[in-house]
Amino acid sequence: MFPIDKFQTLRTPFYYYDTALLDKTLDAIKQEIRPGYHVHYAVKACTNPLVLEHIAKAGLGCDCVSGGEIEACIGAGFKAEDVVFAGVGKSDWEIELALKAGIGCFNVESIPELEVINEMATQMGKTACVAFRINPNVGAHTHANITTGLAENKFGIAMEDMVDVIRMAQQMPAICFRGLHFHIGSQLLVMDDFEALCKRIGELLAQLDAENIEIKSINVGGGLGIDYQNPDENPIPNFKAYFDTYAKGIQLRPGQELHFELGRSVVAQCGSLITRVLYIKKGAVKQFAICDAGMTDLIRPALYDAYHLIQNITSQTEEQATYDVVGPICESSDVFVKDHTMPLTKRGDLLAIRSAGAYGEIMASQYNCRKLPQSFAD
Ligand code: LLP
Repeated sequence: MFPIDKFQTLRTPFYYYDTALLDKTLDAIKQEIRPGYHVHYAVKACTNPLVLEHIAKAGLGCDCVSGGEIEACIGAGFKAEDVVFAGVGKSDWEIELALKAGIGCFNVESIPELEVINEMATQMGKTACVAFRINPNVGAHTHANITTGLAENKFGIAMEDMVDVIRMAQQMPAICFRGLHFHIGSQLLVMDDFEALCKRIGELLAQLDAENIEIKSINVGGGLGIDYQNPDENPIPNFKAYFDTYAKGIQLRPGQELHFELGRSVVAQCGSLITRVLYIKKGAVKQFAICDAGMTDLIRPALYDAYHLIQNITSQTEEQATYDVVGPICESSDVFVKDHTMPLTKRGDLLAIRSAGAYGEIMASQYNCRKLPQSFAD
């Protein structure tokens, strides 16, 4: 399934993107899009230019969190009006860039930010469409570092301030208020968390109705998880269950829009980090497969204890052995997996670290003056 002959000619480590799988995933999403639904790819998951171009061609919008992402998206062919721009700390130059480009919507996270956007848009003679990110205080059952919808998190505006903030925005000359934005967390595999969000959105909409506030768009963020354990059995996430949950949970009014910001579920399974084994080292109690990729190339295991399936893609033997698969960096967290059984592995073998298309290449760093991983797509 991997183009091994081509791999042998490339410098490791590198990210490999299977664009056929990406396209199938995009088709699966498009099949589930219902009237009034708009899917924005959460660009933070992967900004590899080839990946971005495929997603732009499929007609999705994009969700950006920085000026750099907005530039990358416009460069890759996304339409400015399909860009939504989120983030708790938007810099002035980023707001200016977004206003100049004419993006679709700012997802605003605080009153001071709203005031700055209004001021800058006024000076530039523009109108900024805004949605307010509301912190719904809905707990997502996922890793604490990727939970965002609890009252204790720094994200969004508290529910109790929502009406006042909307009234304030409605008075601002350069602001066009569109609706509400939410995002509760990432790598969510059970639909209950999304159901809980729908329920909370229903309560908030009823409250706004009573205040005669019209909501033109609801953005529910992203969060749909993927199967890190079985990437070959489940290469495409269950988009049907996901969109069905929202179709059941939120009844749109005529003309009302429902926006989604899917990141991981779009790109994770189409990407693998390919690394070469440098040494097999037998320790006192463990056997290590030391690779040329490290936590600088894929930080998820070190940062979130994340599991990624690792396969030896060049070994021909049936014989199995157990390894800690580790990187070359002088940090004890530079471990991809512990006690992992795979075919007997030797120096020079290529390993595929699977499901690394999301939050992989984009989170790479140059710690230790290491070179950033390269990439290859076919
Ligand atoms: N919308 C907002 C406002 C977000 O903050 C995020 C992700 C998304 C959409 C996309 O969520 P997704 O569909 O990918 O779950 N680096 C971490 C994940 C951080 C996610 C941050 N926000 C990881 O490697 O697991």
